[in-house]
Amino acid sequence: MATPISVKSPRPLGETRRWAAPGSKSAELFARAQGVMPGGNTRTTVYMAPYPPYAVSGEGCWVTDVEGDRRLDCLNNYTALIHGHAHPAIVEAATRRLALGASFPLPTPEEIDLAALLCERVPSAERVRFTNSGSEAVMMAVKGARAFTGRPKIAKFEGAYHGSYDYVEVSLGSTPENWGSLAAPASTAYSRGTPPAVLDDVVVLPFNYTDQAVARIEREAAHLAAVLVDPVPNRVGLMPARREFLRALREVTAAHGIVLIFDEVISFRVGYHGAQGAFGVTPDMTTLGKIIGGGLPVGAVTGREDVMAVFDPTGGQPAAPHGGTFNANPVTMAAGLAAMKLLTKEAYARLDDLGAKLRVSLDACFKRAGVRGSVTGMGSLFRVHPTDRELIDYRSTRTTPEEAERLRQLVRRLLEHGVLISVTGLGCLSTPMGDAELESLIETFAAVL
Ligand SMILES: Cc1ncc(COP(=O)(O)O)c(C=O)c1O
Repeated sequence: MATPISVKSPRPLGETRRWAAPGSKSAELFARAQGVMPGGNTRTTVYMAPYPPYAVSGEGCWVTDVEGDRRLDCLNNYTALIHGHAHPAIVEAATRRLALGASFPLPTPEEIDLAALLCERVPSAERVRFTNSGSEAVMMAVKGARAFTGRPKIAKFEGAYHGSYDYVEVSLGSTPENWGSLAAPASTAYSRGTPPAVLDDVVVLPFNYTDQAVARIEREAAHLAAVLVDPVPNRVGLMPARREFLRALREVTAAHGIVLIFDEVISFRVGYHGAQGAFGVTPDMTTLGKIIGGGLPVGAVTGREDVMAVFDPTGGQPAAPHGGTFNANPVTMAAGLAAMKLLTKEAYARLDDLGAKLRVSLDACFKRAGVRGSVTGMGSLFRVHPTDRELIDYRSTRTTPEEAERLRQLVRRLLEHGVLISVTGLGCLSTPMGDAELESLIETFAAVL
């Protein structure tokens, strides 16, 4: 068990609240944005009331906003930037490739290099196809699993986020009023207008409840193409899956010819061989994104050769055709390859060590301040919760209005004092960070509490 970091020479970060002042540059930009974007926003995830600070640049683990205020970036574009901002090797690789042309109606050598690296590192990856986002990767994995099995339905876990595809959005925002029983969670719509047929084709399972999940998969097995699971699901609360839970999913899906898909768009961060390496459970397909693009838009669907053959066009139209103008664009491939090569086993070990120390240190801050709170996560990922009850699944992490307000205030005060984490309390580390940055973060966190 990691021990908390002892803060020897505390250096809390300075105030960073100029964006919030009336007439700030961010306020002006937001007013302009409201005239051209719904709610002034083009990415729901980054909205914060009443408006966010606008970023202008980043260097290492620091982000500077348009007012000139600098914050420690503990969000790294929602976990995508594992080397922080503007790492010289990634900038060099991307700009060198960009100068040779941004994209072509032909494949480029770079896509083979990154695919080969992924096949080497991800236990389930024998073949790879690239996309431009994690959402598209999940969409293609689901379509691929349907093509492979000839079955229509998928199963996913209550509360788990897998991107913006109708089927995988089911039960993302279930509430106590509509979530039904734990043994058979209801399929609830996330967007208004979701076709009832989509809800009918998604079976919802309780995360980390082995018996209930397995029983429901067995009942639905004849119609299930895939079971989709993120081993460390952020929106479920960022509690790692229980190892025996993942093993049971592996066994029941294998027994019924169901494709087991691991969504490692975020959780690939937890180990050199991904979450599947860390848990010792190998799925049939894996979706990737975020860190594998070095900060540029990316996604990948990978898997066993026979499953991935549904995308193979060499014998005529594939079972699951997959196009995409910018798939495997060489600039992303070059940046991603540079980023992944920097991620040696030693780099992971260092990040894991920092992550473990940070989680216990933040937990200790809650205890010392006498404020109810806890910290979940794995590897370089952490999530702050405004509660100290036991967290197992989506239902147990749902906040009361009082808890939600305390979390809102905590995140806001961190933002005003030089620390950027997500409005949901999600954070992550990057390789440019060291003990000094962590000490400043912990000191600021303690002061804010
Ligand atoms: C587990 C998981 N899957 C899929 C996605 C979608 O990826 P993208 O935002 O690149 O579309 C995300 C995004 O955060 C994610 O966390």
